[in-house]
Amino acid sequence: MKPNKRIKTAVVVGARPNFVKAAPLLHAFAQGRRFEVYLIHTGQHYDPEMSDIFFRDLRLKPPDINLGVASGSHAEQTGEILKRLGRVLELWRPELVVVVGDVNSTLAGALAARKLNLPLAHVEAGLRSFDRTMPEEINRLLTDAISDYLFTTEESGRRNLLREGIRGEQIFFVGNIMVDALEMFAPVARRSDILARLGFSRNGHRQQIAPYAVLTLHRAATVDDRTSLARVLEGVTRLAPRIPTVFPVHPRTRVRLQEFRMEEAVTGLRLLEPLGYLDFLRALKSARLVLTDSGGIQAEAAVLGVPCLTLRDRTEHLATLECGANTLVGTDPQRIVSVAAGMLARDPARPERPPLWDGQTARRIVNVLQENLT
Ligand code: UD1
Repeated sequence: MKPNKRIKTAVVVGARPNFVKAAPLLHAFAQGRRFEVYLIHTGQHYDPEMSDIFFRDLRLKPPDINLGVASGSHAEQTGEILKRLGRVLELWRPELVVVVGDVNSTLAGALAARKLNLPLAHVEAGLRSFDRTMPEEINRLLTDAISDYLFTTEESGRRNLLREGIRGEQIFFVGNIMVDALEMFAPVARRSDILARLGFSRNGHRQQIAPYAVLTLHRAATVDDRTSLARVLEGVTRLAPRIPTVFPVHPRTRVRLQEFRMEEAVTGLRLLEPLGYLDFLRALKSARLVLTDSGGIQAEAAVLGVPCLTLRDRTEHLATLECGANTLVGTDPQRIVSVAAGMLARDPARPERPPLWDGQTARRIVNVLQENLT
């Protein structure tokens, strides 16, 4: 490659957590000046509060192309992205394709690139829950198996990848890119008036914030299963008299609450529409507790020092357990109440940040790619 030629790069995003991870990456690519970057939105998330607000909050450039695939079964969604993205990549012939995270858009993006033999980088490689019933675990395993550059968030990532036969020289431990986004946008999020709107603070004043908890639920394993959703809701509603709990409801979860006729089961909680990135970050930062089945929120809570109860039996984010910021409680209502009550009774610990969760991950990724591709 000529020394001054820029590397034509396609960054593929599709769902809410992808947008957060792409923001610092695009920023670092722009600073590096050696990459000509095209942003491709698959359209997996399409509602304004699942997509547009993130582009605004994260100051992302509008996508160069939106494939508009929207919802469908996993097979339909993955297949449709593969078909449409395959055509675009064939036409554009980028010299590098970057996929992030573990959603259907990640796997479909990786497959489309690999089928055309385009160099492929996966950001957030090597995470494993060892639960192959999770769609995200399948997306992670397959994406990693066909990527050329694998960027890991934590030490366990390398071990997992080596065990699966990935060569050591393809693996780069760079830290967690969500922390870059958090560092980049924390000063802006401070100006969010969400706490005043929720009635927890007067003018957002730090000293006068009332204690509250945040709940998020969206994983298929938690919300598509009537029993597991009922158990989690029983636990959190039993806790609610002790601490007001706000619940921004993911579209998948809203549909299930209606379908299972569980509107009654959530009367003790404060239901909200999904929050944008800045409002969510602000709400999370001052929360006394977060209860979640999300992977990304476990990591954000660890860095913000907010005690996190993960409503699953396992996590792929081992670093959050190792630093003491996260506790796995599963879906047993009694355990949810007792662990949460214990946490409310004592001052929150100040966990140490896991190694390389320092806001410099995107810069490391761009440096590695630059060294290897030029
Ligand atoms: C996806 C990811 C999950 C990620 C989550 C973040 C996969 C397999 N799962 O789950 O890993 O943590 O995004 O939110 O990729 N819907 C809307 N509006 C939207 C998007 C979705 O109403 O903008 C509804 C549709 O009814 C859709 C359902 O939500 O069928 C599920 O959406 P989908 O993108 O398939 O998966 P998520 O549950 O959002």
